Amino acid sequence: MKCAAEYPRLYFFMRIPFFSRIISRRTEAGSLEDTLAQLTQSVFFAPTPWAIARQMLEAAEIGPQDMFYDLGSGDGRIPIMAAQEFGARAVGIELDEKLCRHAQDKVREYGLVERVSFRQEDFFKADLRDATVVSLYLLTQVNGYLGPRLASQLGKGARVISLDYPVPGWRAEKEIPARSEGNVDYTLYLYRR
Ligand SMILES: C[S@@+](CC[C@H](N)C(=O)[O-])C[C@H]1O[C@@H](n2cnc3c(N)ncnc32)[C@H](O)[C@@H]1O
Repeated sequence: MKCAAEYPRLYFFMRIPFFSRIISRRTEAGSLEDTLAQLTQSVFFAPTPWAIARQMLEAAEIGPQDMFYDLGSGDGRIPIMAAQEFGARAVGIELDEKLCRHAQDKVREYGLVERVSFRQEDFFKADLRDATVVSLYLLTQVNGYLGPRLASQLGKGARVISLDYPVPGWRAEKEIPARSEGNVDYTLYLYRR
């Protein structure tokens, strides 16, 4: 699998615009659909560092009994790690066709087709009902729109682990400091339904 360094431009952006760019613009009299489309455009690919991905999965206590979903799965690294290292079944939801295809190629290359799949889909419309663990690396505002969908679709005991951006209106069971292999500090927000 490609590492972050192989996406130099994206890697450069990883800690700067994505993290600092909080989109407050909304269509004046726009529909919810317009707002979600705008938000989607504001969330571009910034891969979670490997060490942080591992800490997210550990914090969520993921295991072979779990069905893991990564909403906005990028290059697919977290679902693949969930299956390879933790034995979970995993699904990635990713709108970008190229990223989705890249992730699917990796699944075939690693012989994980029975356990991992990627769907080129909008996470605002995705069916999440069989998820027991969900990960997010999005913006707070995006999490705000996903919150009601997660609340209505996830079963009791499901965990949501969000990197750096909380889910507005939800109370985190834990806020966990985490450090990447490049010594960058992050915060993990762990929620339990
Ligand atoms: C910050 S990246 C996180 C990638 C991956 N989860 C990780 O942590 O390495 C967010 C991803 O969400 C995707 N995305 C943005 N809006 C989306 C939407 N509405 N539905 C599905 N994917 C979306 C982007 O294409 C991008 O790949």
